[in-house]
Amino acid sequence: MCGIVGYIGEKQAQPILLSCLCRLEYRGYDSSGIAVLGSDIEVYKDAVRVRVLEKASPPLIGAIGIGHTRWATHGEPSLVNAHPHCDCTGKIAVVHNGIINNFQKLRQKLTSEGHNFISETDTEVIPHLIEKYYEGDLEKAVETALREVEGSYAIIVLMAGEPKLVAARKDSPLIIGVGDRENFIASDVPAILDYTSRVIYLEDDDIGVVTTDNIKVRRHGVEIKRKEHKILWSVEDAQKAGYEHFMLKEIHEQPKVIRDTIGVYVSMTEPVADLALQGDTGLEDMLILACGTSYHAALLGKYIMEELIKIPVRAELASEFNYWGRTSARSRTIVITQSGETADVLKAIKRLREEGRRVIAITNVVGSTASRITDQVVYTRAGPEISVAATKSFIAQLMALYWLALPYSKIDIRRLDSLIMGLRQLPGKVQQVLDNEAVISECAKQLSRHQDVFFISRGINFPVALEGALKLKEISYIHAEGYGAGELKHGPFSLLGSDTPVVAIVAQDNTYEAMLTNIREVKARRSPVIAVVEEGDEAVGELVDSVILVPQVDAIFSPVVNTVVMQLLAYHAAKQRGCPVDFPRNLAKSVTVE
Ligand code: BG6
Repeated sequence: MCGIVGYIGEKQAQPILLSCLCRLEYRGYDSSGIAVLGSDIEVYKDAVRVRVLEKASPPLIGAIGIGHTRWATHGEPSLVNAHPHCDCTGKIAVVHNGIINNFQKLRQKLTSEGHNFISETDTEVIPHLIEKYYEGDLEKAVETALREVEGSYAIIVLMAGEPKLVAARKDSPLIIGVGDRENFIASDVPAILDYTSRVIYLEDDDIGVVTTDNIKVRRHGVEIKRKEHKILWSVEDAQKAGYEHFMLKEIHEQPKVIRDTIGVYVSMTEPVADLALQGDTGLEDMLILACGTSYHAALLGKYIMEELIKIPVRAELASEFNYWGRTSARSRTIVITQSGETADVLKAIKRLREEGRRVIAITNVVGSTASRITDQVVYTRAGPEISVAATKSFIAQLMALYWLALPYSKIDIRRLDSLIMGLRQLPGKVQQVLDNEAVISECAKQLSRHQDVFFISRGINFPVALEGALKLKEISYIHAEGYGAGELKHGPFSLLGSDTPVVAIVAQDNTYEAMLTNIREVKARRSPVIAVVEEGDEAVGELVDSVILVPQVDAIFSPVVNTVVMQLLAYHAAKQRGCPVDFPRNLAKSVTVE
């Protein structure tokens, strides 16, 4: 997820482009760049944040320009990979947000036709394709070029000698800001709100042709009219897309994040990383290391891998592993880290590499240290996560773990097919949980009145109970513990009572009956119980105080829908208590010290 902008008018474009880009940094901030058309196109870009670029860039004269702030997906953050990207002549410049899935094929073809590529990005194929098809009509050349592109894109094209901007979108947001003797194009409303509140939303397959005093929208070659909207939001509200907090926005982004993350791992059978788990090397075990919420993903990875690949898997805290952990030559290690910068994880990687172990990283940040010092990287596609408490990045990590395991799974083909189908249906299932937010928020209000809460479950949902407790602790300042339901009787029972509610996650799997027993034991000690159960379950409702229903999914996917309930419980409890949800006290998004 990057931020793109365009300006055409009577004022100098450079300062306007830079201030619009600053408003879009919540979409990505690992590099930035602008291109301005004066007598010719001048480009200034680097692997720096917009404010730094602003200070360093020389004056670029011209009243037409485009700009970009990046969240790297293909090619590490660097000057050469930063946008805008140009064609061989330097006369066509493009900024892009999205992912071009067939860029390698296009690149090979264009290279064989004499085009010279300088970056590692998927985007660079676009200006070269436009150059290939340009015969005096820029819109036509853009339309023809885009017919060859597979994937998602929002682009803005600037061309020397053409006093216009051409914009196009497919599966990535793009808006036009309507001004007076000037117009704007941007990924999202926050970018332009300092200049205008009149906005036109482009739809998929629309092509916008924007000049200083005219806006034309074409669709499949035909000119159409798009409605103009008046935006009443403040810039900050707009950055949150109307949600009150980044955390709630990021929770609601999860159906798209699941689609984006599994969408990249095209084929089922093509391993996303070389686990090399069976046959020649006879690996003994697998070790998954992480911290915080990512550690709970590691624990879930243990259940997923053991269930599908049938080998022993250890999940350990990186901070503990660094002082105690052992591996053998026949261990395979995966580290999970959203930021790719958590010190404890980096220390573990360095030690493992010194011991000659191969390490695979699952990370959300292209170019992060973890992605550079490991043998293989599996990127999650959660986009930038602003809220300190991890939500969408966690769900994306689970998608990566399912994808890592499936090609190596030792299950029969019919089961494999049903799991693949189940994965593809997950975005819809998660949306169903989000649609049930009102019920979850009511239960959260009950929790917000207490200072101690237990989360319990068994089997593959035990790590979800841990994550539920961590989320509540992180943002609502309520003391919470996640526990294996079978463990309560070995101590925590002493803490139960009417002041200590219990959230019980009850999955339709081999732990179901045991969970019913544990809930009866908890009720016998007068704790109020909120149960998270699958639609169609009648038995649990009779035993507990409140029920949160989740859609039916295969048991191995139940942690995904149950986790979204945990996230919303914590969010609404924290909101009820007036806590600073996005930036809780004493915490940081990435802890780069041991
Ligand atoms: C903490 C964050 O600092 O680090 C958590 O607040 C996160 O949300 C943890 O889970 C681990 O971070 P990462 O980037 O290694 O997954």
